[in-house]
Amino acid sequence: MRKSKSLVVLVCSIVLGTQLIFSQTHAIQVDLKKIGSPIQKTMYGIFFEDINYGADGGLYAEMIKNRSFEFPQSLLGWTSFGKVEVRTDKPAFPNNPHYVRLSYPGHNVKQTGMDNEGFFGISVKQDAEYRFSVWARLPEGESSSIRIELIDPESSIFNSQTLTIDSKDWKKYQIVLKASKTELKGRLRIFLTSKNSLDIDHVSLFPVDTWKGRENGLRKDLAQALYDLHPGIFRFPGGCIVEGTDLNSRYEWKNSVGPVENRKLNENRWQYTFPNRFFPDYFQSYGMGFYELFQLSEDIGAEPLPVISCGLACQFQNHDDKENVAVNKLDPYIQDALDLIEFANGDVTTKWGKVRSDMGHPASFNLKMMAIGNEQWGSLYPERLEPFMKAIHAKYPNFKIVGTAGPSPDGKDFEFGWKEMKRLKADLVDEHYYKDPQWFLSNANRYDNYDRKGPKVFAGEYACHTKDRKNSFESALCEAAFMTGFERNADVVYQCTYAPLFAHVQGWQWKPDLIWFDNLRSVRSVNYYVQQLYGMNVGTNVLKTVENKLPLEGQDGIYASSVLDKNKNEIILKIVNTSDAEKKAAYTFNGMNKAERTGTHTILTSANPGQEKLDNPTAVVPVTNEIKVSGNTFEAILAPKSFNLYVIKL
Ligand code: AHR
Repeated sequence: MRKSKSLVVLVCSIVLGTQLIFSQTHAIQVDLKKIGSPIQKTMYGIFFEDINYGADGGLYAEMIKNRSFEFPQSLLGWTSFGKVEVRTDKPAFPNNPHYVRLSYPGHNVKQTGMDNEGFFGISVKQDAEYRFSVWARLPEGESSSIRIELIDPESSIFNSQTLTIDSKDWKKYQIVLKASKTELKGRLRIFLTSKNSLDIDHVSLFPVDTWKGRENGLRKDLAQALYDLHPGIFRFPGGCIVEGTDLNSRYEWKNSVGPVENRKLNENRWQYTFPNRFFPDYFQSYGMGFYELFQLSEDIGAEPLPVISCGLACQFQNHDDKENVAVNKLDPYIQDALDLIEFANGDVTTKWGKVRSDMGHPASFNLKMMAIGNEQWGSLYPERLEPFMKAIHAKYPNFKIVGTAGPSPDGKDFEFGWKEMKRLKADLVDEHYYKDPQWFLSNANRYDNYDRKGPKVFAGEYACHTKDRKNSFESALCEAAFMTGFERNADVVYQCTYAPLFAHVQGWQWKPDLIWFDNLRSVRSVNYYVQQLYGMNVGTNVLKTVENKLPLEGQDGIYASSVLDKNKNEIILKIVNTSDAEKKAAYTFNGMNKAERTGTHTILTSANPGQEKLDNPTAVVPVTNEIKVSGNTFEAILAPKSFNLYVIKL
């Protein structure tokens, strides 16, 4: 008896095992005879917002926190000793009036000075160079001096250099320090080394080796990670920070341009949005402002897409219309929008074109579109958007406007938003979705039946959120599957951007995020690689891809889409197997001759999900191998839970 029971179990296991091994073959037809819709160059892009210390303390390479002493607590981020006074009389920079006077402490063995703690430490790499600069003046005497020191957590000095101040007028001084060791948690110390007082402002420390070597530059590894995404569009500067907690704290682009020392500080709403992740020292210096963001768009080859306030304070945080600008008082906001177009594109003889040119970019940034409002809903929004659109189109008839459908991907407000965007003839509608894996998997067909005649879709913020909200292979795979739906519907989906982009390992408020970093290192998440694989393989036209005449949208766990790249003369197949079993895909390319072809197979899969960590940045990365294709058929073996990308030369 016992023996025959085991036999049954054995036979069952073999049958089940056989099913696993010899899984169903999916017969997929790709039509090359009828080339499908063009795919926009803007299709896959980047959304940047200063959240999770993405700008100050992140991409913006400034290492000094509160460099202009403008935080509401003037010395936040600094530890002062001896005779240190915060003053505002005869300031160097009218928009940032606070500065510090360092004076003789009254006794030869006492000391005056101050330490800056940086953003989670002042972090330097051995042998790398760091440019220290400071604006200073002498309130008395002919000369004075300070010693600039890098100190480690045990208070040992590991670099120091003296700087002499020799002018009674505000003047910029700088020195370059070469770090004698690597230190993650250092501090910068300024020691007064003379009996004469001196005034200091805009104290700054940058790595010399920034992205493109710019002095007011960006962190090289982080900017490189953006470049490597091959983005087509670059949306900035938010997100919720566009709206602010109230209108006073909204992002005002005009405060973010011109000489960096005179850019007015703004609070950052992510400082207090989540009290369990509270960061009292989180402000926006605007050191990386609109000029730098346009420049970054240009550097990474993406169309810039600025977002501006539509006069509504964050609707999540303000429930009374009194907090908003009345529709008949919107003129200054509308003027900001018009001036922004002039700043980006205007001739150097125009007021704002000259500001851009004086900053170093006489050529136009070739801005073509702007988003007005972030996540707005209800009638408050269209009644404000309308006058913006009228004024912009009166001056720039072909300028594209991106409207919003609010924070949810469905429901009453979403439907109303879309109806209004159609009525107003917005060019694109920004949709946002932070949803669970199942939503992503079952919404791969989301755009199949969208109205082709109305505004186009901009999926401006999306990410798959698992329960623990960690970056994970599972979420990345769901995103890859869902994105086949973007691609298949490229006639209606014109652009998409994952969100958020960056997170400091110590300073995050929101996760998951595409790229994690500490002060010295960064890690591209597995979700990053999905975005990159799409960004590097956009193609020029959709190719109809079906099994039994139907698009592959999750049947048997398979999601697929294909494109032609006319310029490179290749076809690109994207196919995701979300199931636990290996699958086969037998492709037939209708309209392809039977020649021998070469190509590549890139696979993103993970034997050990959750392994991507700062200490192990290459744990989950795509792997590429060469393949040969003979004839107009091709069999793909799809590993369990894998995102596969085949590039076949025509
Ligand atoms: O990406 C994080 C936030 O999510 C954005 O600021 C906002 O637009 C959305 O609610």
